[in-house]
Amino acid sequence: MNNPIEQFSQWWEQALIDSPLKQKSAVCVSTIDQEGFPAARFVDLKSVSNEGMVFCTYLSSQKGIEISKCNKVALTAWWDHIGYQVRVTGCATRLSDIDAEKYWKTRTRSAQITTHVCEQSQLIANPSMLGGKVAEYTQSNEAEPIERPVNWGGYRIKPIRIEFLTFKEDRLHIRELYTLCNEKWNRAYLQP
Ligand SMILES: Cc1cc2nc3c(=O)[nH]c(=O)nc-3n(C[C@H](O)[C@H](O)[C@H](O)COP(=O)(O)O)c2cc1C
Repeated sequence: MNNPIEQFSQWWEQALIDSPLKQKSAVCVSTIDQEGFPAARFVDLKSVSNEGMVFCTYLSSQKGIEISKCNKVALTAWWDHIGYQVRVTGCATRLSDIDAEKYWKTRTRSAQITTHVCEQSQLIANPSMLGGKVAEYTQSNEAEPIERPVNWGGYRIKPIRIEFLTFKEDRLHIRELYTLCNEKWNRAYLQP
């Protein structure tokens, strides 16, 4: 295949079929922290297109702050039931308000409320305090639609490098590396 983003989409579609995972679209996104260490965490992959891979989060979170300082990121997925690993390297840019709004509307009301109540990545003296805050917020906003907080949105990762690994029991994994060069994807194979 000439377009690795199409290949990514096809692998992801396959991964969603018969996945034993509850969180079927979880992928690991790595940023670079202020000391230069990689900082990795799972997020929900929302969509993939030629523009890139999208995830949603708080813009004011640790990852949001890190991306605002250095937008070089990695996205990694391992889909065990089909034996595929994908490694994406690229640059993250913030979603437009219109796109963020679109994803906000796909969230359940309870997820929207939780998003309002939490300040992602901030310290909290006792996590059990949040349950009460959720109940309070729910009660005082019973009838109204829950608006998207200004610090919630998402990022699109525009890949410059994508590696596909097909796992083999004999460890002779197949590794296909696509590198973007002058707007064109070059393909090479790597030894396992
Ligand atoms: C399966 C799974 C999916 C997650 N999806 C998201 C997500 O889509 N967005 C998000 O902000 N955090 C998500 N989280 C929580 C993140 O892993 C992380 O704890 C949070 O975003 C804070 O990261 P940060 O402090 O590095 O910004 C998810 C966690 C798990 C385990």
